[in-house]
Amino acid sequence: MTEFIITIDGPAGSGKSSTAKLLAEKLGATFLDTGATYRAATLAAIMKQADMKDIGALEKIIDDTNFKFDSTPGQMTVKIDEKDCTEQIREPEVTQAVAFIASVPSLREKLVKIQRALAARHKKVVAEGRDQGTVVFPNADYKFFLTANSQQRAKRRSAELTAKGHKINLDQLQQEIEKRDHTDKTRDTAPLVPAAEAVIIDNSEITLEQTVDEILKHIEI
Ligand code: DC
Repeated sequence: MTEFIITIDGPAGSGKSSTAKLLAEKLGATFLDTGATYRAATLAAIMKQADMKDIGALEKIIDDTNFKFDSTPGQMTVKIDEKDCTEQIREPEVTQAVAFIASVPSLREKLVKIQRALAARHKKVVAEGRDQGTVVFPNADYKFFLTANSQQRAKRRSAELTAKGHKINLDQLQQEIEKRDHTDKTRDTAPLVPAAEAVIIDNSEITLEQTVDEILKHIEI
């Protein structure tokens, strides 16, 4: 039986993942990275050389693939047909292809089912994504929406990617982030908007710890 669900939504690079991880750690809760489900479905499609425009084929891939998501304290580990793909789902090739899968209602429905089933396995959940407070867990106990300006977000992503050895053009990264925001905000299914009752936090000028402290001020558990 779930004790509480806290949702943290927001655009790419808004610090959702780091915030959700630290918050989960402080509350002794499980961190649910729902972007990983979209990334895993995309990587499975790439590995199986699917036609990325063929929705029927993509539906079948999601149904037939053995996805295993496990929430460990630092991150969510991902296995696709028993192969550990935790790192591979973060590769730029997947990041570039994921928006299409995330825009198709029938594919989202399947992944939302997986996300709810994952949450149901845990008592205390901090779920992070784009639509957690609006669609996936509308009855969540607390809802937050993080934002930051696109320049800050590009800098954060750049630091992450550089640390992994990727070569980065900061301007290009900022443009990609703005393009992805636009796609995420204007899609018909589960667009990236704050839930009506979500607390909105702009963390462009505050640290990760300050963001988590701000969230904790709103929580009574
Ligand atoms: O947070 P992320 O970069 O790992 O997300 C990967 C993609 O999945 C991104 O294009 C947005 C999409 N996504 C979504 O549509 N809904 C979610 N709940 C989580 C991610």
